[in-house]
Amino acid sequence: MSSPLVLRTVAELRRTVAGWRAAGERVALVPTMGALHPGHVSLAGIGRRTCTRIVVSIFVNPTQFAPNEDFSAYPRTFEADLAALEAERIDAVFAPGVPDMYPDGFCTTVSLAGPAAAGLEDRFRPTHFAGVATVVSKLLIRCLPDVAVFGEKDWQQLAVIRRAARDLDIPVDILGGPTIRESDGLAMSSRNVYLTPEERAAAPLLHRVMTRCAERIRAGEPASTAMAEGRAAIEAGGFALDYLETRDPDSLAPVADDASGPLRMLVAARIGRTRLIDNIAVRPVAQH
Ligand code: PAJ
Repeated sequence: MSSPLVLRTVAELRRTVAGWRAAGERVALVPTMGALHPGHVSLAGIGRRTCTRIVVSIFVNPTQFAPNEDFSAYPRTFEADLAALEAERIDAVFAPGVPDMYPDGFCTTVSLAGPAAAGLEDRFRPTHFAGVATVVSKLLIRCLPDVAVFGEKDWQQLAVIRRAARDLDIPVDILGGPTIRESDGLAMSSRNVYLTPEERAAAPLLHRVMTRCAERIRAGEPASTAMAEGRAAIEAGGFALDYLETRDPDSLAPVADDASGPLRMLVAARIGRTRLIDNIAVRPVAQH
């Protein structure tokens, strides 16, 4: 076990990564906002499959939070994060400050459409994906990794990043990692610490309802019927539902009830002061 290098500036990051690449090593970047849990750590394992060096970035990105959101309250647990990464053979942690990422006068953002305008997260967080795509583009250009790994937990984010990296010609393979869950099905999330014990006990309902709806759709029931019942079940469970939808997994466009191709189910719902999102495959994407 050895401590990862902690890099604070783009110059240190570039020097370190350039040294590895000159030695013929392949580098994976795992972008995070810290408050690390096993879901984050699993993404490093996916990077390890094809890369010899792993960089985890930890940066709570202000531009992806709206003014009414939890930027200042977002959990910051840097020392515990470093300890968690020590056991995982992470080579470096890139943890820039806000003025380093966004110096005075910063005014350029990535403008998005397609999967970023699908009427899901974007409907409730209209400025969110511009902030995500801008910071992820900056992180990719700063690090120039061979591979960058993102979680399927944030399915729309993964679709937006894949598309943006392709459209902006950023030479990196974007990989997705499966959602890591608690034993009762709740998707791990840094925001789960906000849940009261009662809310925590209610939270697995989202995954249960999605699993049941997906089984019914696979058994031949029209998605629109299954979704209507799913929505009612989530609301009856004490959630304020933002959306429960089935969509094309890549474009995130709506899919007709009688279509038979790949299908993803996505949910966002609030319980108390916490907003939870999750998604599962209904019909998986065909393996190429
Ligand atoms: P954050 O919420 O910290 O998540 C970092 C990465 O971990 C994302 O790719 C996310 O999808 C993944 N992740 C979160 N929970 C997971 C789980 N239970 N199983 C598997 N992967 C999981 O997402 C962000 O940060 C930011 O938007 C970021 C991409 C870093 C840009 O600021």
